[in-house]
Amino acid sequence: MPSVPAPGPGRSVSVIATGSYLPDRVLSNADLEKMVETSDEWIVSRTGIRERRIALPGQATSDLGLEASRRALAQAGIAAEEVEMIIVATITPDMFFPSTACLIQHALGAKNAFCFDMEAACSGYLYAIEIAHRFVASGTVNTALVVAAEKMSSIVDWKDRSTCVLFGDGAGAAVLRSRPGERGILSSVLGADGSLSHLLSLPGGGSRHPPTLQTISDGLHTLKMAGREVFKHAVNTMSSAATEALRRAGLTVADVACMIPHQANQRIISAIAGKLGVPDANCFVNIDKCGNMSAASLAVGLDQAVRTGRIRKKDIVLMVVFGGGFTWGATVIEW
Ligand code: ACO
Repeated sequence: MPSVPAPGPGRSVSVIATGSYLPDRVLSNADLEKMVETSDEWIVSRTGIRERRIALPGQATSDLGLEASRRALAQAGIAAEEVEMIIVATITPDMFFPSTACLIQHALGAKNAFCFDMEAACSGYLYAIEIAHRFVASGTVNTALVVAAEKMSSIVDWKDRSTCVLFGDGAGAAVLRSRPGERGILSSVLGADGSLSHLLSLPGGGSRHPPTLQTISDGLHTLKMAGREVFKHAVNTMSSAATEALRRAGLTVADVACMIPHQANQRIISAIAGKLGVPDANCFVNIDKCGNMSAASLAVGLDQAVRTGRIRKKDIVLMVVFGGGFTWGATVIEW
């Protein structure tokens, strides 16, 4: 394998531990058949999803993120006080402010961390990983906690069969540190195209359409998606981003031991794997069990891949994502 210099100035940075949490409650396709006019056959054949997890009404995004964070810190063997930075990637924060990151900080007892949320829809995890990477690489912080947590069930229109069957709730977390002798994160590509923001959005509740009885009756407080348009852009953009991230790392698809693509649709995953030439065996998939968890999809996927032995020491891992904004990203890590 070619030798790759540390990415830009600063120290190399590794993901030293991961954690994830899925709510206990399972919503199957059979359950959805009783809620909207759909069928298990349609959902499986069009998306690959068989079931998804749904948070309990009293469980908020910070509760999911907290549990994932505890598991990541336990795996790292690190006390909460050692964390100096917490970023939470989410489009379903507990509230506008304070940030979900501050709520998790308090519950964890990570009193030495500065905290903020960041929003890049489904791409949020890789955006947050890259921000944390730069803080650790520069030596500004030694230990960063990146959390991606979503309660998608709180923003889905449960009467719209074209979207409500797609999403699930969950959270993942990663601890980043510099470790001597490890190359860690090798490259990242991040991108956005705001001209296509109207194709995937939640229009109500912000300063453009503050909540009123009218915005509620107009249905502005739930997720809207032009699925077919998003599909087309997702395949092309993720394939290009993955290729560019590998090029920047001085690697090729043949070097990739595990690709974790965003889990929006099995057909999108298969199309990207086919375009890139990644064999099925090297492509991690959990959409059948989890649905699309937005930013949490990659975070949960990475943790599951590590814990099930799909990723081993020194493996090259490629993560690639696409989401609302539009936003996208790809990251290459030597594990
Ligand atoms: N059950 C049964 N029929 C359905 C359902 C359903 N749940 N949903 C839609 N249909 C029907 C439609 O009404 C339509 O019927 P018609 O032909 O009579 O009009 C037909 O199925 C086909 O609908 P399409 O929307 O064209 O179906 P498509 O094959 O495109 O699949 C899907 C829809 C699954 C949404 C797909 O387009 C997709 O996965 N898009 C990309 C999603 C994505 O990548 N999102 C990005 C991340 S999300 C984020 O950032 C938060």
